[in-house]
Parts: sequence; structure tokens; C-alpha cells
Amino acid sequence: MASPTPSASSSAVSASPRVHALLARLHAASTAQEKSLSQSWFYLKRLIAFYLFSSTWAAAADDHMRDKFVALEEDKCQFMYLIARNSGALNIVEAGTSFGVSTIYLALAVGQNIADQKALGKTVAGRVIATEKEPTKAARAREHWTEAGDEVAGVIELREGDLLETLKMEGMPEQVDFLLLDIWTPMALPTLKIIQPRLRKGAVVFADNTTMVRPLYKEYLDYIHDPANGFKTTEVPYSGGLQMSVYLPREGN
Ligand SMILES: C[S@@+](CC[C@H](N)C(=O)[O-])C[C@H]1O[C@@H](n2cnc3c(N)ncnc32)[C@H](O)[C@@H]1O
Repeated sequence: MASPTPSASSSAVSASPRVHALLARLHAASTAQEKSLSQSWFYLKRLIAFYLFSSTWAAAADDHMRDKFVALEEDKCQFMYLIARNSGALNIVEAGTSFGVSTIYLALAVGQNIADQKALGKTVAGRVIATEKEPTKAARAREHWTEAGDEVAGVIELREGDLLETLKMEGMPEQVDFLLLDIWTPMALPTLKIIQPRLRKGAVVFADNTTMVRPLYKEYLDYIHDPANGFKTTEVPYSGGLQMSVYLPREGN
């Protein structure tokens, strides 16, 4: 008898059945929110506010987003996991954690990369530095990681508060291998500038929804495309667009 076709998720990501089930549940909840009429209306209003008033974010938008997952889509999360595994990333910074969905993928990758190195007899350390400014969201993220178990929770350090402050605090890894910018667009470039001095050569930086809200990303995209800043960059054509950049300072700049 032919064996059943594995789900897309289990083909891409190594994790326990419990973690796969958790991820499926969280993605379903996030997708339902994102497909709602009220959420589409919210995004449309933000674009209108930008074109009419040059407003890139507002306190009311924070209020609206407080109970929203806004999780990175499952296919993008799988892609991030595979890139993190492929590159052997040990130190990952995630700007924007929300309820901790994308963090789970990054933590699985880091945990498995550490295990690979240990199997070779090497002593290595690594972690995902997650960041969230909303206390209620941070609490939900912790619940999800606890539910996922030690293979996930054991490699995450959550820095609560404004990441423009928390990412400057002590205890940051000397070298960062991977940066995910899944944050409100005005924060993308300031966050990159904080982490850039720690990026190792070849580190990868992702920014989400760069096609969907391209005008809001103008400063970030101008910076990342300027050869003087040391990045090679391309857009991966996932829904909404995903900007993938590799830090290669002094190479063909
Ligand atoms: C798009 S969501 C992150 C989704 C998450 N990566 C996932 O896939 O599940 C962005 C998050 O960034 C948080 N955020 C916004 N500004 C922040 C800041 N200055 N410091 C820390 N977190 C912030 C928001 O509260 C929100 O939860």
C-alpha cells in the first residue's frame, strides 16, 4: 500500500507531531483574522492615510493590532526555516514576534543547527532573540512556546519592550546570522541599522510584505539597494512580497 503523502508542513519542517499540530492551529487562526473584511479595511485605511497625510503608523493602529496574530504566512515560515537550516544559523534576531508563530520555526531551525554541530563534537551556543512591545502579545507567545515544548522554548530569548531599546541592551550575540523584519514598516530600517554592525558576512535579512506596501518601505528599500550599504538583495515572489538580502560588505560595492 502506498504511504500517505506527507503534509506540506511536515515535508518542509522537522518537528514533533505536537509542534506541527500547534503550528497548523495558529496559522488557521491567523489566516481567518487576515481574511476578514475588517482587516482588509484596516490595511486599505493605512494606505490611504499614507497617500493623503504621509502617515506611516498611528497609536490607533497599535490598538487595532493588539489582538491580531498578523503571523507570517505558513509558506514564508517554511522558507525561513529552510534558509536557517541551510545556512546553519545559530543566532537569529526576530523583529516583531506577536503571538510567536514565526519564532517557532526559527527556534526549531536553531535548535536543530545546534544539535548538528554537537553531533560533530563541536561546542556551540545559539538562540532566537524575539522582540515584542505589547505585554499581552508577549504573554500569548510564551504560552505557545511552552505548549510547543523544550525543542522550541529552550532556544528563545524574548526581549519585551520597544525593540529600538531592547536590541541595544547587553547580552546580544557578537554575530547575527539571520534577521527577520516582520515589524511595522517605519521600524524596519532603524532595526536593521541597530543589528547591521553585528551581521556576519553572508548573514540573511528578510523583510515581509515589501510588494504589498512598497511605498511604506521606500526608505528601507532605498537603503538595502544602495551598494554602499553592503547588501545583495532580491524579492522572493511570495504573496505580498518578501525581500531577501544577504550581507556581503565590500564585495562588488
Ligand atoms: C507582524 S507582527 C509579527 C508577527 C510574527 N513575526 C509572527 O509571524 O507570528 C509585528 C509585531 O511587532 C510588534 N511591534 C511593533 N512595534 C514594536 C516595537 N517598537 N518593539 C517591539 N515590538 C514591536 C507588534 O506589537 C506586533 O505584534
